[in-house]
Amino acid sequence: MKVIVITGASSGIGLSIAQYLCSKGHKVYGISRTKVHEKNIKSIQADVTNVDQLIEAYQEIFDIEGHIDVLINNAGMGISGSIEDTSSEDASYLMNVNFMGVFNSTKVMLPFMRESGGGKIFNMSSVAAKLSIPFQAFYSSSKAAINAFSEALANEVAPFNIQVCSIMPGDIKTGFTKNRKKNDIDNPVYGERVEKSVSVMEKDEQNGMDPEIAAVIINKMIKQRRIPLYKTIGFKYKVMVFLAKLLPAKLVNHIVGSIYAFKKDKSK
Ligand SMILES: NC(=O)c1ccc[n+]([C@@H]2O[C@H](COP(=O)([O-])OP(=O)(O)OC[C@H]3O[C@@H](n4cnc5c(N)ncnc54)[C@H](OP(=O)(O)O)[C@@H]3O)[C@@H](O)[C@H]2O)c1
Repeated sequence: MKVIVITGASSGIGLSIAQYLCSKGHKVYGISRTKVHEKNIKSIQADVTNVDQLIEAYQEIFDIEGHIDVLINNAGMGISGSIEDTSSEDASYLMNVNFMGVFNSTKVMLPFMRESGGGKIFNMSSVAAKLSIPFQAFYSSSKAAINAFSEALANEVAPFNIQVCSIMPGDIKTGFTKNRKKNDIDNPVYGERVEKSVSVMEKDEQNGMDPEIAAVIINKMIKQRRIPLYKTIGFKYKVMVFLAKLLPAKLVNHIVGSIYAFKKDKSK
């Protein structure tokens, strides 16, 4: 039985992971702004952008359990729209939740994990970290930042018996689509491109994988002695990430653009 802390456990992938890990006999603490309504998941309300709340939450868990073995930094959100129409407030807020939230949670957790003799940290990135999606520039950037963060972190904490994995799921069907904040205005110079692009993403997400797939994969890695630095979820996304490594960056970006950028749109 491991003591597991997961952020963003109130819905979607986080909730599914928390439920699955509970069913496997682990002690799971779910961190989110709203309460997790599941009797086996111990819910603590905290915002990942608020360091004081995280300190209080992780200290409480450590005091009760005496050790913390696994941290899953999953909390995240999305915004969409062109770069030039994105407000600085929205861009900063997204980076604050998606990237600084991972940093805050990790920084607060590390002393407890060291004290526990080691552990595993899973950071929820995305395939968008490797294949940057037009009209989702800030989301893609936040996930690329998580990958860079995970690489540096893995080397820093290896001597403390702490391992790190950046998880890159493809499209998964969750409330993420509904929770994505769209830009308040769309500059007419982009025509229908933003709307078309976002609707392709939304359709892909709503036809996406079951979130339990992520839960099964993380449970397997919790049991493994050594975990990979990266784990892509979904066969077609593994192929895409593999090809992105082999092909020239400009060609890869052109292919992504042909799916999401609608550069030939003649509506304007
Ligand atoms: N769905 C996909 O296709 C997909 C693909 C790749 C990666 N991901 C990543 O997977 C993660 C989970 O997404 P999801 O699809 O499960 O979306 P979701 O259903 O919208 O869940 C997001 C979770 O994050 C929590 N959260 C948001 N802001 C927070 C904050 N400031 N502090 C604490 N918790 C916060 C939410 O809880 P509260 O609102 O209660 O705080 C909720 O539990 C995200 O990092 C996302 O980027 C998703």
